[in-house]
Amino acid sequence: MSTPAVRETESKTIDILWVREQFPSLKLQVNGHAAAFLDGPAGTQVPKQVIQAVEDYFVRANANTCGAFETSRRNDAMIAATRGAMADFFNCDASEVVFGQNMTTITFALARAIGRELKAGDEIVVTTLDHDANVAPWRALEEQGVVIQQVDICEEDCTLDLEDLKRKITAKTKVVAVGYASNMVGTINPIAEITKLAHAAGALMFVDAVHFAPHGLIDVKALDCDFLACSPYKFFGPHMGTLYGKKEHLQRLKPYKVRPATDAIPDCWETGTQVQELIAGIGAAVEYVAGVGRHCDASVKTRREALTAAYRSTVPYERALLTRLLEGLKTIPSVKVYGITDPKRSGERCSTISLRMGEHHPTEIAKFLGDRGIFTWDGNFYAMNLSERLGVESKGGLLRIGLVHYNTAGEVDRLLTALNEFAIR
Ligand SMILES: Cc1ncc(COP(=O)(O)O)c(C=O)c1O
Repeated sequence: MSTPAVRETESKTIDILWVREQFPSLKLQVNGHAAAFLDGPAGTQVPKQVIQAVEDYFVRANANTCGAFETSRRNDAMIAATRGAMADFFNCDASEVVFGQNMTTITFALARAIGRELKAGDEIVVTTLDHDANVAPWRALEEQGVVIQQVDICEEDCTLDLEDLKRKITAKTKVVAVGYASNMVGTINPIAEITKLAHAAGALMFVDAVHFAPHGLIDVKALDCDFLACSPYKFFGPHMGTLYGKKEHLQRLKPYKVRPATDAIPDCWETGTQVQELIAGIGAAVEYVAGVGRHCDASVKTRREALTAAYRSTVPYERALLTRLLEGLKTIPSVKVYGITDPKRSGERCSTISLRMGEHHPTEIAKFLGDRGIFTWDGNFYAMNLSERLGVESKGGLLRIGLVHYNTAGEVDRLLTALNEFAIR
């Protein structure tokens, strides 16, 4: 079973100079070194369009919703426009797009609402590969007698154990909650196939696409999932979360809300006043990604086509960086990479790599790199079940290197040189 990240034919190379020009922070210097942002899985940098949109919001449209005056109307129009942009991003209807503080908060709220329909003995399937934000909200329902089934991984390549998954999805299963891509080891899960298994059992399919979103085109219609959450700050936008929910479920389920707030979807799912200035930034982030597509392929017409063209160019670009990194890591003493390392299987993973170097604490390596202007992360990245399963939780976890389309081959080479220096000190 495999879900190709994106159609790879007709890919046109991205214009990396143009891309980098869009991101003012990429010019930062640290200790005399150009900053190399390999920390994308914890949050990407933002292009100038996003910064500008947030500023414009405060100047032109800073008011609460549904007022009978101009700035409020502009705010309403901006929210509607951003919903439309996210609808193109997900490939759904605008009424199926919900904004929220972040993916974690959205998922707790959704799980509580779904929990209202569940009884003791009902089951929810989660996985060992997932970030805890796609585990803890479901585990919280154990308090009302819901049983959680956790799918194991195949340790040798950090993929989901699909046989275990098939065993654990039964007639008792009400929700299957799976990540699209692992934020620790980069594995891409076969979501369309898992959705079919969930639906065949009569269960809802919830997808955590937070890590996948910067690396591949999302198409909720093709996946046929019931819910899919992601966080714009991982795809070049501001710190917020977004949810796609199939209209029938958003209408049927009862979110926890205050009485005066509307019962109409999708607004009834958005608790309290939203961070509206950042919603403006989300719209600009989607436009930025679409802009990458238009820059690569001038023939695209709609925004969805532009988004498709963007990933058609960024996916092979990221794969080339990934291959360069994996090849280089092979030459560095004591490096152990976790997850898929076979270049022939690059379609099953994204360009996020985690490793250990012997018994060195990952923080020590991250600090060594950080002092040289190379930003990586260390720890468990909240993928705590995976960190425990791989036996690294008590040893500081892993060092994570995240490559997105604004990174360069030069940055990969700098990283490899620094890791080699660290290894042979
Ligand atoms: C795969 C994955 N899921 C969920 C989350 C949580 O997202 P948020 O910070 O928006 O709550 C993260 C954050 O790192 C993540 O990487």
